[in-house]
Amino acid sequence: MAKSKIQNLNSPKGMHDILPQDQQWWDKVRKETQAIADSYNFSRIETTLLERAEIFENSLGETSDIVEKQMFVFKSGSGDRLVLRPEGTASIVRSYVQHGLSHLGQPLKLFYSGLMFRKEHPQAGRYRQFNQAGFEILGGDDDPIYEAQLMLVIFKLLNRLKITNLSLHINSIGCRVCRPNYRKKLTDYYKDLAVKLCRDCRRRLRENPLRLLDCKNSDCQEYKVNAPIMLENLCITCNKHFKKVLEYLEELKLPYELDNYLVRGLDYYNRTVFEFFTGVTSETGEKFDFAIASGGRYDYLMEMFGVRQSSGIGGAIGIERVVEIMKTTNVALGLRSRPKVFFIHIGEAAKKKSLVLMEELREEGISVLESLGRDSLGAQLRSSSKAQADYALILGQKEVFEESIIIRDLQNSVQETVPLRKFVSEVKKRLK
Ligand code: HAM
Repeated sequence: MAKSKIQNLNSPKGMHDILPQDQQWWDKVRKETQAIADSYNFSRIETTLLERAEIFENSLGETSDIVEKQMFVFKSGSGDRLVLRPEGTASIVRSYVQHGLSHLGQPLKLFYSGLMFRKEHPQAGRYRQFNQAGFEILGGDDDPIYEAQLMLVIFKLLNRLKITNLSLHINSIGCRVCRPNYRKKLTDYYKDLAVKLCRDCRRRLRENPLRLLDCKNSDCQEYKVNAPIMLENLCITCNKHFKKVLEYLEELKLPYELDNYLVRGLDYYNRTVFEFFTGVTSETGEKFDFAIASGGRYDYLMEMFGVRQSSGIGGAIGIERVVEIMKTTNVALGLRSRPKVFFIHIGEAAKKKSLVLMEELREEGISVLESLGRDSLGAQLRSSSKAQADYALILGQKEVFEESIIIRDLQNSVQETVPLRKFVSEVKKRLK
C-alpha cells in the first residue's frame, strides 16, 4: 500500500459515514417521515447548520448539558461565536421569527430532518454527529389537543418503521406559576441530603434542581423515591391542561406511562414533556434503554426570541437510534428490487454507440448498469454477475452492422436478437 501523508484515516470521534449498503434503512426513514408529514400537513423547513451560539445559550439554558458542555463553538472570521446546531427546535423558532412565518398559518406545522452535533462521550446510540427528524406545531392556541396530535404523529412514524414494544413516558413540568413553588419544595427536600448526592447533583441542587430527578447515578436513586413530585404540585390551569392531554391519548388508545422523573434537560419546555422508549434488545443482548424520540411543549420559547408569547409543541426522533433498532430487529423493508439490466459492448463501434443506446433506455425510466471502461467481454460479464443483473444487453460488431442487439436472460441463459429500433420496448416487456 502507498504510504499516506495522512496519519489517521478515521472519521472524527463519534461521527460516522452512512455507507451505500446502509442507505436502504435511511431511505425508508426519509420516505416514511415525508409520508407522515404529508398526511398530517407538516411543511418541510431547512435551517442553517451553523447558528449564533446565543440562540441556544438563551433558549436551552446555561445549565443544560448541551450548553454547558456539548456545543461545538468556534469564532468566525468576523468574530461571531458560531455553533454547529445541537438540536432543531431553537433554530426553527429563530427562522420562524426572522422570516415572520406566523402569516403562513396559526398554528404552523413544520417538519425537518437533518444533522445535529453534540460533543458527547460517544457510545452505542450516542454520537457527536447524528440525525433527527422532528415535527413542530408553532403559534396558535396552547390547546392540549396539539400535544396529543404531536405524540400521535411520532407514534405513527415509529409504527410505520416497525419499531415495536414502544412505551411513551409522559409528565408535566408545570408553568411559571407553579414551577417556582415546586422547585422550592424540591430544594428543601434535597438540601439535607446534599452530602450524600453525587457531585453533579450537588451542582444541580444549586443551579437547576428539577434535573436532580433525571440523575442516572445509582447513589442518588434511593433519594428520588420520597422526593415531592410535580404532578401533585401543578396549578389548576396546568392540571386541567395535563388531564386533557391524557384524555386525548386515551381516546386515541395511545398507551402511555406517567413518569414523575421525566423533566427533560432544556429550559424552553413547560407543561407536557414526553419520551418514547422501546423494549427491544440489541444483537449483543443489551437492551436499547435510550429514548428514541422526545419532545414537549415550549410556550415561552418565542418570548425568548423577543416576540409575543406564543405556543409551541414539538418532538424529534433520533434517526441513528431508530436505524439501529430496525437493523437489529431485521425490519422487512418491503423493498421490491427492480430487475437489473447490464449493457455490454464488444469492439470499438459498439462502445461508440453504447452511450446513445443506454440513454434511450434511461429516458424510458429504465436504469442501466455498465462497465464502460472495461472492453473485454469476460470482464464485463463478471461485472454483470457481481451486480446480480437479470438481463444483459450485448452489442458486438455484428449487431452494430445489422442494427440489432442481443437480450440475454441471465437466469436461464436464454437469449434473443432483436432489432435496435424495437429494443427499448423489448426490454420493457421483460421488466414488467
Ligand atoms: P433531545 O431529547 O435532545 O430533544 O433529542 C431528540 C432525540 O434525538 C432523542 O430522543 C434521541 O433519540 C436523539 N438523540 C439525542 N442525542 C443524541 C445523540 N448524541 N446521538 C444519537 N441520537 C441522539 C431535542 O433535541 C428537542 N429539540 C426535541 C424537540 C423537538 N422538542 C420539541 N421539539
